[in-house]
Amino acid sequence: MKGRAHGRVPRPRSVRVELGERSYPVRLGRGTLGEVGREIERRTKASRAALVTVPGVGRRYAARALRSLRGAGLRTVRIDVPDGDRTKNLEQVGHLYSAFLAHGLDRSSVVVALGGGMVGDLAGFAAASYLRGVSFVQIPTTVLAMVDASIGGKVAVNLPQGKNLVGAFHQPRLVWIDVDVLQTLPRRQLAAGFAEVVKAGALWDADFFARVERDAEALLALDPQRLMPVLARACAIKAEVVSRDEREGGLRMLLNLGHTLGHAVEALAGYEGVLHGEAVAMGMVHAARRSESLELAPRGTAERLETLLKCFGLPTELPAYPRSAYLEALRVDKKSRGSRLRYIALRDIGRAEAVTLTPARILPAGWENRKRRGVGRTRGAKV
Ligand SMILES: NC(=O)c1ccc[n+]([C@@H]2O[C@H](COP(=O)([O-])OP(=O)(O)OC[C@H]3O[C@@H](n4cnc5c(N)ncnc54)[C@H](O)[C@@H]3O)[C@@H](O)[C@H]2O)c1
Ligand SMILES: [Zn+2]
Repeated sequence: MKGRAHGRVPRPRSVRVELGERSYPVRLGRGTLGEVGREIERRTKASRAALVTVPGVGRRYAARALRSLRGAGLRTVRIDVPDGDRTKNLEQVGHLYSAFLAHGLDRSSVVVALGGGMVGDLAGFAAASYLRGVSFVQIPTTVLAMVDASIGGKVAVNLPQGKNLVGAFHQPRLVWIDVDVLQTLPRRQLAAGFAEVVKAGALWDADFFARVERDAEALLALDPQRLMPVLARACAIKAEVVSRDEREGGLRMLLNLGHTLGHAVEALAGYEGVLHGEAVAMGMVHAARRSESLELAPRGTAERLETLLKCFGLPTELPAYPRSAYLEALRVDKKSRGSRLRYIALRDIGRAEAVTLTPARILPAGWENRKRRGVGRTRGAKV
């Protein structure tokens, strides 16, 4: 059995996303994939389920989830979509609607996403809009999807003009996490997901950040004793922020720590060669350095963040695109307000704050010369 070397089975954990009558639990366990059916039946009362996945994930895990659903009395269909963020588009949504209709999904059916954030966003958007909305359940299989994308109800697809430009808020009824599935996640994806775990600590909880520092090695080795509490706390932080600010009025914006420049890096790279978590790692270190130079955060904040991200093998220096290219990318950012941006700065490890800055102040002149020496360490990104 997988993971036996890690000894005792850690106790399952549950985190609640408090959203009034739309509240739902995030359940974390080990080897629990085969138990998801009963819980889905109990929470949705659905009689039909469509399991949406990608071939690489479905091949390994769909059978167990489907068997469990059928065991709970549901009629099931598995629908595969091609892997990769490029398929998170309206054409695939159309295919999903057709498949839902062909398999008789009605208002009382449930759509279950089994996969990373790409599958969750795509299946979630289809669930939000099919028949004006059907029940939705997330079974995230990447670290990023577990601690971030599956919680909070944001679902979206890309347009040729940009990422996540068409979407909805559609909260799942349940988020079901079986940490054992991470055993097959490629290392680089694993590390990129931990960037969002580090982010949760950096913006919200200094003690948690210290715990991640202490346990980094064990986390990368997927030691379940260390992994489960850390993933649970990262989920709880996202849940807490979302519960207080479901539709991004203010607090939820803090989750964008590292994302302003991170998105710029992804866009400049043409969404190839650099993973989202890697871009966020670079953006966070930049945010921490800027916070220090603006005298918002104490000296040493950026270094501490950088050291931890490097433990996960994450890149921390922005690729050397010309400053003008970055400034242009920042200007087209969705979150810009006229010429100024809401930029997430750090007050300290564990405390983030939104500040209003122009792109030129986010990336001051002279930045390129200062940072060029770090470029060689930027893995994966085109420079
Ligand atoms: N809705 C939100 O709030 C939110 C937040 C953050 C990111 N996102 C979205 O999430 C997506 C990124 O998600 P991601 O990082 O999970 O990437 P992903 O879904 O593209 O998955 C990454 C790769 O890992 C593979 N994979 C997934 N689980 C696996 C497993 N257990 N074993 C082996 N291989 C596995 C996938 O097939 C894929 O090739 C983007 O589309 C992004 O926009 C959404
Ligand atoms: Zn992110």
